[in-house]
Amino acid sequence: MLIDQYGRKVDYLRISLTERCNFRCQYCMPEKPFSWVPKENLLDFEDLFKFVKAAIDEGITKIRLTGGEPTLRADLDSFIKMICDYKPDIDLAMTTNGYLLKDIAHRLKDAGLKRLNVSLDSLNPKTAAIIAGKDVLDNVLAGIEAALDAGLKVKINMVPLKGVNEHEICDILDFCKERKIQVRFIEYMENVHAHSELKGMHGKEILNRIKQRYDIEKIGRQGSSPAFLYRIKGEEYIFGLIDPHKHDFCESCNRIRLTAEGYLIPCLYFDEAMSIKDAVKEGDIDRAVVILKEVLSNKPKENRWNEGDSEASSRAFYETGG
Ligand code: 5AD
Ligand code: SF4
Repeated sequence: MLIDQYGRKVDYLRISLTERCNFRCQYCMPEKPFSWVPKENLLDFEDLFKFVKAAIDEGITKIRLTGGEPTLRADLDSFIKMICDYKPDIDLAMTTNGYLLKDIAHRLKDAGLKRLNVSLDSLNPKTAAIIAGKDVLDNVLAGIEAALDAGLKVKINMVPLKGVNEHEICDILDFCKERKIQVRFIEYMENVHAHSELKGMHGKEILNRIKQRYDIEKIGRQGSSPAFLYRIKGEEYIFGLIDPHKHDFCESCNRIRLTAEGYLIPCLYFDEAMSIKDAVKEGDIDRAVVILKEVLSNKPKENRWNEGDSEASSRAFYETGG
């Protein structure tokens, strides 16, 4: 079992498979980065799997594949199958922008993927294009339908932005309600890579928008999920609000992150990271596990994001997998 210095059991590994992305979301990567990590610096699936096996043996029970955009990696389904063959009851999820999902959703499900989070910031093609930097809506919607059709459990992420998609909060809620899928509204997190004029919405403002259409009641946080859940009164429908500006979910944080290059990061807003790449490439998995434990021993009590300025971390979301 992996336990950090504050007694938190860490059983959730988030793996960024690539920092590359086929979108240019304003809140994440509005410009193509000056340089990408060269492909040869990425951990290949064989090496990555060696580490994943060791991490599972140490007590990881939940894995989320993220990016950048994880569906850009070739042979993604084979990698998923490797993990699921090793531990069939692993809770394996992925976060995607959905653009390429239509053609691969069934294959991913057959390989063993269980859950999928898809970003959907607008139902208006023009607004979706403004946010993502290109015309994406048709593909994303087709991807969501394909995922549902394949039997994947889908959740939707929306980042409400002032003057951009704020008027669509209830429409996205209704879209998800009709399909019986949970939507989670995520407060925009300022970061140095995002479009500088972007203004996010506070959780309260998001809830006020929803209250204009529905009576809602609080449910609360479940397990170590960062989402605070609400129910629409008189209906069974539940949605979530993620407020990363609060520290109250750090206390039950159970996660550790691995970047596509092999850096282990104990907390999103924490700049020290250690690489397992050399150890894994040399076949020294024991050393990789020692590094894993050392990184865990450095896991901070709370994210450092609110300390002083909002640029506390310069590491981009597309590197750390959000
Ligand atoms: N603020 C809030 N959420 C973000 N995401 C990415 N960047 C940000 C940000 N700056 C979230 C989006 C997307 C997921 C991959 O990460 O919700 O769906
Ligand atoms: Fe790509 Fe996701 Fe970042 Fe958008 S939020 S640019 S889809 S990695």
